[in-house]
Amino acid sequence: MKKILTLLALLGLVVAGTAAIAAEEEHNPAAPTHFPINEPKEMSWSFAGPFGTYDKAQLQRGLKVYKEVCSACHSMNLVAFRTLEGLGYSDAQIKTLAAEYTIHDGPNDAGDMFDRPGKPSDHFPAPFPNEQAAASANGGAAPPDMSLLAKARGVERGFPRFIFDIFTQYAQGGPDYIHSLLTGYDQTPPAGMVIPEGTHYNPYFLSGVSLKMPKPLSDGQVTYDDGSPQTVDQYARDVSAFLMFAAEPHLEDRKKTGFRVMVFLLLFGALVYMTKRRVWADVAH
Ligand code: HEC
Repeated sequence: MKKILTLLALLGLVVAGTAAIAAEEEHNPAAPTHFPINEPKEMSWSFAGPFGTYDKAQLQRGLKVYKEVCSACHSMNLVAFRTLEGLGYSDAQIKTLAAEYTIHDGPNDAGDMFDRPGKPSDHFPAPFPNEQAAASANGGAAPPDMSLLAKARGVERGFPRFIFDIFTQYAQGGPDYIHSLLTGYDQTPPAGMVIPEGTHYNPYFLSGVSLKMPKPLSDGQVTYDDGSPQTVDQYARDVSAFLMFAAEPHLEDRKKTGFRVMVFLLLFGALVYMTKRRVWADVAH
């Protein structure tokens, strides 16, 4: 009994302490100590949940946004053109798409490097020859490679939400973050906040008040031919979904297999239980 009381008292202290710290941080908006300042907005994604699937039309639009906007600065080194089969394109369409790119290849038999049109097995070429060139063209910050970005970013959700996340199977932290970041420009920083020169205020940025990437999207910038709205919000959703696909092209298979495994385990568990009852049936309790 005594032990339990001591434990309870300790727990009380911890809770009070945390509250006090939280109150202390409460907050000087001009000098935030926690980033991101705003948590990402939770969007509804077609690929969420145990039965989620990609929306191929959305992925195709997202690819268009990547090609026409993001690829000017961001590489996607790990993604081969043939991966785009998952967007519903035929082999011929992928060949045409790959051939739009020039790939630096070689050396040939004479020992020279040469340029040739892309093939489906090539990967997306990078916009800059190396990281230093990428950084120096972007004010000192190299735009991160996009192949795995949707899996590499995501805001920590903290207790107790990460417990609920296990049950709701929340795994969209990456795309939620990218969407919020892309739509999070155009806001006025709180009075007194210092924004370093050459950076852009964005309250959704993970690691500071502002980042080196200027607002990349504006309304009407990319033409959609399926009638979807040509707005920053829609572009941001589509490109985030596409980046999720780039990072995890086999997500649908993974989810399908997972479901089958659960069904199998349930049936198998029932069989084992029945067998156990049978085996022990004649033993007196
Ligand atoms: C003009 C060049 C440029 C364009 C175009 C651009 N970016 Fe960036 N991006 C950058 C730079 C530079 C950084 C690194 C910023 C930093 O760390 O301060 C960056 C960083 C990012 C980050 C990472 C932020 C983080 O948490 O580290 C994401 C996500 C991102 N860009 C998404 C996009 C998307 C999506 C597009 C296309 C719609 C795009 N960017 C277009 C230059 C660009």
